[in-house]
Amino acid sequence: LIYLDNAATSWPKPSVVWPAMDHCFHHLGANPGRSGHQMALDAGRIIYETRELLAKLFHINNPLQIIFTLNATEALNLALKGLLKPGDHVITSSMEHNSVTRPLHVLSHRGVEVTKVKASIEGFIKVEDVVSQLKENTKALVITHASNVTGALMPIEELGQWARAKGLKFIVDAAQTAGVYEIDVEKMKIDLLAFPGHKSLYGPQGTGGLYIREGVVLDPLKEGGTGSNSEDPVQPDVLPDRYESGTPNTIGIAGLGAAVKYILDEGLEKIREHEEKLTKRFLQGLEFIPGIKVYGPRDVTKQAPVVSVNFGDHDSSEVGFILDRVFNIACRTGLHCAPDAHSTLGTLGQGTVRFSFSYFNTEQDIDKALESLQRISQELK
Ligand SMILES: Cc1ncc(COP(=O)(O)O)c(C=O)c1O
Repeated sequence: LIYLDNAATSWPKPSVVWPAMDHCFHHLGANPGRSGHQMALDAGRIIYETRELLAKLFHINNPLQIIFTLNATEALNLALKGLLKPGDHVITSSMEHNSVTRPLHVLSHRGVEVTKVKASIEGFIKVEDVVSQLKENTKALVITHASNVTGALMPIEELGQWARAKGLKFIVDAAQTAGVYEIDVEKMKIDLLAFPGHKSLYGPQGTGGLYIREGVVLDPLKEGGTGSNSEDPVQPDVLPDRYESGTPNTIGIAGLGAAVKYILDEGLEKIREHEEKLTKRFLQGLEFIPGIKVYGPRDVTKQAPVVSVNFGDHDSSEVGFILDRVFNIACRTGLHCAPDAHSTLGTLGQGTVRFSFSYFNTEQDIDKALESLQRISQELK
């Protein structure tokens, strides 16, 4: 199998991930932060260490400002529903995933005003198009760091500077960039950073998180047991307890910790360079495939390792089916949970065939994918 669906979830994971989970399962299976016995304390320590590693990766001063969630979707729901109130205005883009679009749709029915800035045909958002949408009641700007359809990288740092200067909360969806691109919450002036653990951070599914800048207060998505202040019916104010109720995914978080340590040891630059090399090879090869249409920037300095293509009017799922059944290549077709992005590209009906690469893909994988597309192109002619 050639796995080129890493934008959905990465596979395989670094070989350090499952031993860490196995160790946790076998030796640290207690409930962290609840009981005072040694195994519970050790489980709690594993969770704290993962927070520390993530804090190091994203340049976060206080690891306790990181909240663990099930995935990026839960983190974005907490950020958006916890922050925005009736009468608030929020600026977003036409390249967002449904994990932003759908919560905002719900909020728009609760009196939150939503402005979607239209991206260019490559999927880029222009800073001036965002700036021109500012209103008196604008509370926040929520934007993806990179499109999960075209890979287009957004001008996060510039937008962050502007948002901070205007007193807006800056919410960044790092689903396609965390673990590959440098993210510095201080430099980029990010107030709320949502990330999945299971994509390019190489942790297991069921992990993700939200960084909440000190001083930003959200309504929790849920209330419940935290193992702290148990006599009080009111949810504690302290972090992470305010937002982390119930038993956490200790085993998953142990795996995520091992994965983030692996990323820090390898270095972001090495990981990114490898993925850029693969993306470049793929983009160059696509130029020789008759009848293929490539969407997005087509420039590795401007896009994450995500490339969308189509053959004429052929349905994207048909092409994906052939890649899977005939060539044993896993990619993702359709709308990628980002209908606005596909409207922007003009592919809402057809969808696209999306290839997304990881640190564990090789040049041979890219060449096999190109050969398969070449053959599909001949068949479809
Ligand atoms: C840009 C973007 N945001 C958010 C998500 C949601 O991530 P998760 O599946 O971890 O909820 C995805 C997943 O594909 C994504 O690509």
